[in-house]
Amino acid sequence: MATPQTSSSLFGLDALFDNPVFAGGIGLASLGAAAAFARRGAIVSLGAARRRLLVNVEISKQDPAYPWILAWLSQPRVATGFIASRITRIHNLSVTTRTTNSRVAGAEGPVNASFFLQPGYGRHVVKFGNAYIAVNREKHSTANMNTGEPHEIVQLTTLWAYRHTFEGIFAEAHTLAAKANEGKTVVYSARGMEWSPLGDSRKKRPLGSVILDVGVKESIVADVKDFLSRQQWYVDRGIPYRRGYLLYGPPGSGKSSFIQALAGELDFGVAMINLSEMGMTDDKLAYLLTKLPKRCLLLLEDADAAFVNRRHRDTDGYSGATVTFSGLLNALDGVAASEERIAFLTTNHIERLDPALIRPGRVDMMTRIGEATRYQAGHMWDRFYGDVDISSLGKEQFLRRLDELGLFGSNPDGTSSHRHTSTAAIQGLFLFNKSDMQGAIHMAEGLIPRNFEAENVGSDALQK
Ligand SMILES: Nc1ncnc2c1ncn2[C@@H]1O[C@H](COP(=O)(O)OP(=O)(O)OP(=O)(O)O)[C@@H](O)[C@H]1O
Ligand SMILES: [Mg+2]
Repeated sequence: MATPQTSSSLFGLDALFDNPVFAGGIGLASLGAAAAFARRGAIVSLGAARRRLLVNVEISKQDPAYPWILAWLSQPRVATGFIASRITRIHNLSVTTRTTNSRVAGAEGPVNASFFLQPGYGRHVVKFGNAYIAVNREKHSTANMNTGEPHEIVQLTTLWAYRHTFEGIFAEAHTLAAKANEGKTVVYSARGMEWSPLGDSRKKRPLGSVILDVGVKESIVADVKDFLSRQQWYVDRGIPYRRGYLLYGPPGSGKSSFIQALAGELDFGVAMINLSEMGMTDDKLAYLLTKLPKRCLLLLEDADAAFVNRRHRDTDGYSGATVTFSGLLNALDGVAASEERIAFLTTNHIERLDPALIRPGRVDMMTRIGEATRYQAGHMWDRFYGDVDISSLGKEQFLRRLDELGLFGSNPDGTSSHRHTSTAAIQGLFLFNKSDMQGAIHMAEGLIPRNFEAENVGSDALQK
């Protein structure tokens, strides 16, 4: 009974295959399947071939090399040959505009502007040596939690055979970046939880342009240079390679200017944190200090803010800073403190600082940068009027006038005048009288500080 059934079902199957419509359908379906297989196979093998034949380098925006590579990409290149020049054309560009206040003669518009074109987002091809490099600049949909900026990458792809060109590209991009910053000082400031350059790099300030009292500048410069030459000594002894300096004194005495000039002299950048800034917390300070940019002097302005926070908040009615005293100490030499750094702290209120700060490892050298002295006033005069006041008669007159006004702390009769002026004020006077040294002498009275508490003592003494 079973056999006829089987034969009848087999018979049914044969009949089905004999049906031209069905057979055609099967044929088409298998063709389709074969094509799909072939496609998949091609994709897989292409992917494999791509992986074997090509090399990718991905540079993320967080990497220091990112701006260098972008700058390198925006270099003008002359592609030789018909094909090369067609392939390497860049169709998507993005613009970076820099404006300056100076205006070229005859130029129109509110400010002087220069435009830098960079390859925009998308794909481009550039030629480096003999290698074609595919460039893909992409903006991601995710963003940096700290700054809110979207993540970005640049991907460079070339043939495996040309993989060594990347070294050349990075070296060239680095040299280019170094050249762009030559003679400049980069100032970093904390933006969110990250360091970022504060505006364009500034022209280096010559050390000679900051005039401190006899020997002050020289002793700090010698100490920093000595420290820099002893890195191995510290490493060999397992001591953290750190040094701290505290510059204190009245406003406008040249503390910040000196640190900037020193950074230029050493070919360092400046990483600046204002401790009295709103939103600067202990955590943030400690974190930033562990992430210091390389080859930078750390500059902590207003070091007393942490102490004001602790002691003087009520009396000053000031509660802006949220950095605490222990937060500052820990950031400077706690377990999490960075292993290598040179820190400069500045303050106008040395009396507010705590002795715990002035301990080797935190602050190793303390220097007062005080009110203008005779020596400084004389040197500043030379810098401004040296070329017109050949005989130095003007300088003598000026210094005599300052003596008469008791601006160096003592009156002509030897009594104390309790009156001083700042180097910033002298600079202001000279700037006002740029090409008029007599004007500077006549206006010297303007150097008398206006809100000077002991002014009455001084003027009494003068009237005597
Ligand atoms: N000793 C100096 N030599 C040359 N320039 C000076 C000197 N002191 C001050 N100046 C000039 O005065 C201005 C203010 O100086 P700077 O900002 O360095 O003072 P500061 O000591 O940091 O003041 P503050 O304590 O208020 O921060 C600058 O333009 C600087 O060029
Ligand atoms: Mg300052």
